[in-house]
This record gives sequence, structure tokens and C-alpha cells, in this order.
Amino acid sequence: MRSQVVIVGAGPAGLMLGRLLELAGVDAVILERKSADYVLGRIRAGVLEQGSMDLMDRAQAGQRMHQEGLIHQGVELSFDGDGQRIDFAALIGRHVMVYGQTEVTRDLMVARQATTIYEAEDVELHDFDGNPFVTYRQGGLTHRIDCTFIAGCDGYHGVARRSVPAAALTTFERVYPFGWLGVLVDRPPVAHELIYAHHARGFALCSQRSPTRSRYYVQVPADEKVEAWSDSRFWDELRIRLNPATAEALQTGASIEKSIAPLRSFVAEPLRFGRLFLAGDAAHIVPPTGAKGLNLAMSDVAALADALIDFFGEHSVAGIDAYSAKVLSRIWKAERFSWWMTSLLHTFPETGAFGRRIQRAEFDYLAGSVAAQQSLAENYTGLPT
Ligand code: APR
Ligand code: PHB
Repeated sequence: MRSQVVIVGAGPAGLMLGRLLELAGVDAVILERKSADYVLGRIRAGVLEQGSMDLMDRAQAGQRMHQEGLIHQGVELSFDGDGQRIDFAALIGRHVMVYGQTEVTRDLMVARQATTIYEAEDVELHDFDGNPFVTYRQGGLTHRIDCTFIAGCDGYHGVARRSVPAAALTTFERVYPFGWLGVLVDRPPVAHELIYAHHARGFALCSQRSPTRSRYYVQVPADEKVEAWSDSRFWDELRIRLNPATAEALQTGASIEKSIAPLRSFVAEPLRFGRLFLAGDAAHIVPPTGAKGLNLAMSDVAALADALIDFFGEHSVAGIDAYSAKVLSRIWKAERFSWWMTSLLHTFPETGAFGRRIQRAEFDYLAGSVAAQQSLAENYTGLPT
């Protein structure tokens, strides 16, 4: 079998890339290790920047998003119970949309016409410095797809980045000493907008998926076990970390999903190796505090799609040559913002009382400075591509 592009991974990055390519007449097969149902069962974040909304429209997959997505004109920050709203609309005339990553994935799956091979085992990348091909196992047989380019959209634990010789790759990493314990519940959100809260006992986030489904998180130590957290323990801890009025208004219920996600900052450089490209979580990880993971994956694949379309349509290598440097510049800015939001809002046992005073000063500065609020708003709603 032959395809112009082989995409490894059918998460949002792989599916979006595949869709943009198929609309431009470039053929791309997607190889995914898991089943479609498994991919749709993953609960992930759900805040879309304007650029990601625009990309869903370009992919002709934005219809349901416009119907069901919730436009948010701002977010609320809270520090030891003191609130500060960041009004995106008033500060910079922009907004974000709350629409779950699971829904983005579903819409892209539905829109896709071309082949996605699910449950492709033992995917291996070959000869991406010369004549690339990809092999995988399915039904006891090994299959081979020859191609011009390979796109590694297979997430942090995928095979693509691991296939690159260690000497060709530089990685930058920061692992935080805590994770987020998240609960999904069929109850209306406690507030119209998201609340990011700092408390001496740790960070908390009130998020949402729809007018009837909420997503809440609390910071927990990195080695915490989810089994140690009954629903009632979770709700009690969350209430403590919110201001009293919000805690009072919180509608609790039986969790429909509960899990702990570690927090990590990670970037690989470069993102092109001959005829192999990395995009999305395969290339970088951000802590979820700035809601940047999905949006970065979207801006990577928009750039990669344009580069590949130019290559096949106009025989131009300018786009593929520029891809890595271009997307890394935006990636590092999102890394910086996600690290900053994380640093402001979490508790860091090692920085002690001094660290908390610095965080308080940062919060007070933000509360009193339009410039600081504009900076947050600009980064949160998405820097230009
Ligand atoms: N072979 C084939 N597929 C693989 C392999 C492999 N060896 N390893 C991983 N995959 C698949 C995974 O099963 C997954 O479906 O690649 C896909 C990668 O999808 P994501 O992890 O969702 O990554 P990405 O598409 O880059 O999306 C980034 O996901 O983790 C969030 O915060 C992140 O929102 C961001 C988004
Ligand atoms: C979520 O709804 O899961 C969510 C929202 C905003 C974040 C992180 C996660 O910053």
C-alpha cells in the first residue's frame, strides 16, 4: 500500500491533520493503536482558542461546536478566597469556547472520509531519512505502507519520537511534584465561568463541559492514589479551597469519572527529522493550568498541513523547512504561560512561606494592573499563529 502521508495517532492532532489534508486532496492514512471507542472514552480538557474554533470550521467539522459550545468572555481567579475576574472581552475583545476535547475528536472522526486503521499494533517507522515506510501488525499479519512523509501525532508515549536517534533530539523537561485529581459529574457548573483557585492546601479548578455537566479538579501530591479519594472526600476538599459563597453554591453528586493526571512541562527539539514530523503531545506537554494542550496541538497541525499541502501542490519545500522553527516559537510561549499559571496558583512545598508571599504579590499585582490582566487575557485566549 502507498499513501502520500502516514499519520501515526488518531487523537485530535492526527485527526485534524488528516482532515485538512484530505480536504486539500492529499491522501493520508491514519494508524491508531487503540480502538475508536477507547479514543472517545478518554476524558481530556476542553477550552478552545479562537484559532482552534477557526480550524474546526476549516475542517468542516465545526457545526456541532457552534451549537453546543459555550462562549466564555472571561475567567475568575481566586486567591485565598479573594476573587478577580479577567474579562477577556473588555480587556482585548476576545473570548474562548468551552467544548470538550472528546467532542472535538468525535466531530473530526465523523467528518473524516479517508481510512483510519484502528487497533494497529507494533507500529514502526522506517527509513525516514530516505524512502519512508511504516509497518504495523493487525490480525496476526504485518502490513507495510510506503509514503513520502510520516507525521508523528501519537502523543507523549508514542512511537514516533522514540524512533528518532537520541543524538538528533534535545528534550527540555520539568516535572511538578503534584498532579490534578479530576472529577466529572452530571450537575450544573457552580459558576458561569471557570474558576482557578489558589489555597494554602493547594490549587482547585471549577470547569465544565455543558450546562448540566461539570469538571472539577484539586491539586494532590504526585504519588497520590485515586482509590484514596471517595467522592465525599473530594467534595469536602474542593469546598475548603473555594471561597465560602462558591463552596455553598456547589452542587455535588456521584462522580462519573475520577482520575489523577501528573503535571509536566516538556518540549522536544527539533520537530522535523528528514521526512518525519512531530506534532501535538508527541512534541510537547504543558501542565493543564493554561488550557493550552489541545490548542497547541491544533496550531501545530495547521502549520504542518499547510506545509505538506504546499509541498504536494506547489512542489515547495519552504513550508516543511520552516515548520519546526515556526511552531517551536509559539510552543515555547505557551510553555511559558502554562508554567506561569501553574506557578501562580499551586502550592509548592519547597518554596515555603516566602513563595506564598510572592504568589500573593503576583495576584495583587494582577488584580491592580490592566496591563497584567491584558497579558493574561492575550495568552489565555491564544497568541497569534
Ligand atoms: N501507534 C499508534 N498510535 C499510537 C501509538 C502507537 N505506538 N502511541 C500512541 N498512539 C495514539 C494514542 O492512542 C492516541 O490516540 O496516538 C494518539 C495520540 O493522541 P493524544 O494523546 O490525544 O495527543 P494529540 O492528538 O497530540 O492531542 C493533544 O491531548 O493529551 C491531550 O492535552 C493534550 O489536549 C491535548 C491533546
Ligand atoms: C477542563 O475542563 O478539563 C479544563 C479546563 C481548563 C483547564 C484545564 C482543564 O485549564
